[in-house]
Amino acid sequence: MTQGAERTPGRRTLLGAAVLGSAALGIGGAPAAHGQERHGDEARGHGHGSGFRSLPVPTVIAHRGASGYRPEHTLGSYQLALDMGAHVVEQDLVPTKDGHLVCRHENDITGTTDVASRPEFASRRTTRSVDGISLTGWFTEDFTLAELKTLRATERIPASRQENTLYDGRWEIPSFEEVLRWAEREGRRRGRPVWLHVETKHPTYFRGIGLGLEERLAKLLRRHGRHRANSAVFLQSFEPSSIQRLAELVDSPRVVLLSGASSRPWDFVQAGDPRTVADLVKPEGLRWIASYAQGIGPTLDLIIPRDASGRLGTPTTLVRDAHAKGLILHPYTMRNENSFLPADFRRGTDPNAYGDAFGAFKVYFDQGIDGIFTDNPDTGLLARGDFVNGRRP
Ligand code: G3P
Ligand code: CA
Repeated sequence: MTQGAERTPGRRTLLGAAVLGSAALGIGGAPAAHGQERHGDEARGHGHGSGFRSLPVPTVIAHRGASGYRPEHTLGSYQLALDMGAHVVEQDLVPTKDGHLVCRHENDITGTTDVASRPEFASRRTTRSVDGISLTGWFTEDFTLAELKTLRATERIPASRQENTLYDGRWEIPSFEEVLRWAEREGRRRGRPVWLHVETKHPTYFRGIGLGLEERLAKLLRRHGRHRANSAVFLQSFEPSSIQRLAELVDSPRVVLLSGASSRPWDFVQAGDPRTVADLVKPEGLRWIASYAQGIGPTLDLIIPRDASGRLGTPTTLVRDAHAKGLILHPYTMRNENSFLPADFRRGTDPNAYGDAFGAFKVYFDQGIDGIFTDNPDTGLLARGDFVNGRRP
């Protein structure tokens, strides 16, 4: 299994966590709480430099937008994240048949759009091997941008986030160029840049079918002035070679994503490189990453491992070791629901009910991380406010 692999609901593993039940979340649809009261006034480190060093730390990164409240990777999800005060808004990128970049977590769009209900596209259903995994469904590389634009986004995990299904069908799949224009508009309106965190998905697979991502991404970044070291964007990938390729094309800050310790990046598998993530988090591996990237994005379990019962164990030395190599850490992914939280912070038995997310954010912030991906940026911002102001949750 390669890194970041995620499957659509009902068919495959769900968000890397236990399969969820069907109860609705105990939340409102559009929380308005803002927790970023101390922009630029930081507990430590950043907040006083330029480029990404000017961001508040710990930085709250809206994972696929405010995906805890809206169908992921839609302009609605991105807008809500920004309105909540998220410091950075994430996009995952895959290509279309005609070479446009669109925002989806994976090229299989079966579980996050209404494509399966469109008779005009029934014949596009097919089986593909993506990063060594056989998948049957509908794939972005079989659609032109114009065709994809006729589809509508839907909630990935409707059984757990029933409230989000209210918004099914409301938004299109955004192209990355649309998102860049949206960010520019919002940046002008707010008088400060809108930060993006942009991931290349399955880069080796796409290069293999003639749809290389990095050159296309670099071209858009240049066109929109986000190709500089101090541009308001992070580039991220689970495949180190994608980040190395991007380093040749643009100067934007770069983050290497790290999945479970025993996993191997898919480009390593393809190239016969025997290293695993366990090798990359050793000082030698971190030194190698620091030669072409500014940060790492480890799964939270690489910061504090969980035992077989899901309880947190002893923190690793990864934060200290990465900082020693000059790397920042943007771990992923904090979600408010019990099913995603460490067992220490679950409340009650409903997997879809919220647990003590504030407590969980705090233990991760206490480790000295530089930022965190979360589906619930409003919760993350409030937790961050508690942390930087020294309040107990
Ligand atoms: O990119 C950070 C985090 O989003 C990685 O996980 O699978 O949600 O892209 P994934
Ligand atoms: Ca991502």
